Amino acid sequence: MSEWMVIDAMRDAADPSAKGYKLDDLVTSGAAFFVVKKDSQLHAYVNQCPHVGAPLEWIPDQFLDADAQFIQCAVHGAAFVIDDGACAGGPCNGVGLTALPLLQEGDHVKVDVTTVRELLSPPAI
Ligand code: FES
Repeated sequence: MSEWMVIDAMRDAADPSAKGYKLDDLVTSGAAFFVVKKDSQLHAYVNQCPHVGAPLEWIPDQFLDADAQFIQCAVHGAAFVIDDGACAGGPCNGVGLTALPLLQEGDHVKVDVTTVRELLSPPAI
């Protein structure tokens, strides 16, 4: 069953901008996922760089490069296309970010965080 999280604040966020979100009961060193607004479009991704699996941000909500043209990993500089998370350069070696379903329904914007839990939850012992 899918788990949806409401992110209505991103509707009125600056364009371009990005914001990280945590899940209440999931311990992560950075955000669990993040949402980018660019050209009035919203895109959501798991906060896990395909290079070594680290969170992309060192500073909260800092997911974009200086020109806000790409998503950029702060660890080793991999760049990703904002529209689809595809690897655009650096050590991501052709592997993109994991996109999350995003739904605009009436007055609400929701992200399906099911995949976030699957990828970031610690393994059962
Ligand atoms: S962990 Fe992201 S580029 Fe290395």
